[in-house]
Amino acid sequence: MRAIEAIADLRRELRRARRDGKSIEFVPTMGALHDGHLALMRAARRPGSLMVASIFVNPLQFGPGEDYDTYPRDIEADLEKAAVEGADIVFVPTEAGMYPAGPMSTRVEVGRLGEILEGAHRPGHFAGVATVCCKLFNLVGPDRVYLGAKDAQQVAVLRQMVRDLNLPVELVVCPTVREPDGLAMSSRNRRLEPDNRKAAPAIHAALRAASDAAEAGRTSAADLTAAAQKVLNEHPAVRLQYLEVVHPQTFEPVDQVSGQALVVVAAHLGSVRLIDNCIVGTAQRPEREEQ
Ligand code: PAJ
Repeated sequence: MRAIEAIADLRRELRRARRDGKSIEFVPTMGALHDGHLALMRAARRPGSLMVASIFVNPLQFGPGEDYDTYPRDIEADLEKAAVEGADIVFVPTEAGMYPAGPMSTRVEVGRLGEILEGAHRPGHFAGVATVCCKLFNLVGPDRVYLGAKDAQQVAVLRQMVRDLNLPVELVVCPTVREPDGLAMSSRNRRLEPDNRKAAPAIHAALRAASDAAEAGRTSAADLTAAAQKVLNEHPAVRLQYLEVVHPQTFEPVDQVSGQALVVVAAHLGSVRLIDNCIVGTAQRPEREEQ
C-alpha cells in the first residue's frame, strides 16, 4: 500500500493501473477510521481492481463553530488499518494541495436537498461535501465509489450530483455498521464523554421503536415519531435536534408511509452531534421496465 500526498503522484499511479486494465474502486473518508469505513473498504476490494481510499478532513464542509479543529485525526493508525483492509493507495492530500489558491470561488450547489434537515442545521455543509467529492472523483476517476447508508442525505446529494453532472461513476451504498449496543459507528463517537456514550445507543433504540411501530402496521409519521420520542424521553442526555419521517429520495417530510420512508434523526450529546437513520415500510415492486 502507498500513502500518496501529491496529486501528480496519484495521477501517475492511476494511469498505470488503468493501463494494466484495472478498475478503480474508491472510498472517500475523513479518517479516524472505524469499522464502518473498513466495511466500505472490504466492499471495494474486488479482483482486478485498484482500491483507493482518501483521508481528508475537508474544511469546506464544516461551518463556523463546528468541530473542524477538534475532528479526530489519527493518520498513522488509519494507514495501518487501510493496509490491513487491502487498500492499494491511500490519498492523503494536504489542505494546500486540495485548495492551492486558498478558498475557492467555485462550488457545486445542490439546491433544496442541501437546505433541508442536515442542510438546515449545517448551512453550506452539502455544497462543501459535493464540491470536495467532485474534486476527488475528478482526481481519482473511479469506476465505483463506496458510501455508507449512515449518511443517507449525503448519499442522496451525491447521487443527484452524479446524475446532474453526468459523472461516470457508480455509487455503491453499504449498510450502517453499528457497535454491539446499536450505536452507529462514527469518528465522532471517540469524543463522547463516558455518560453520553452510555446514553448514545438510545438514538438507535428510538429508531428501532419507530421501525417496530411500522412493522406493527402503523403508517402515520406522527405515530412513528411518537414511538421514537418515547424512548428518547428516558434519555435526557440525548438532546434532539430533529426526528422526522421523510421520503427516501427527496428527504421531504411525509405524513403517511406508503412504500418505504426513512426515519432520520440528529442529536447532541454534550458537544458531540450524531446522526442516524433507518428505513421503514416495504419496498414497492419496481415498475416493469419496457423491453
Ligand atoms: P466520513 O464521515 O469519514 O465517512 C466516510 C464514509 O464512511 C461515508 O460514506 C460514510 O457514510 C461512511 N460511514 C461512516 N460511518 C459509517 C458506518 N457506521 N457504517 C457504514 N458507513 C459509514 O462522509 C464523509 O466522511 C465526508 O463527508 C466525505 C464523503 C469523505 C467528503 O468529505
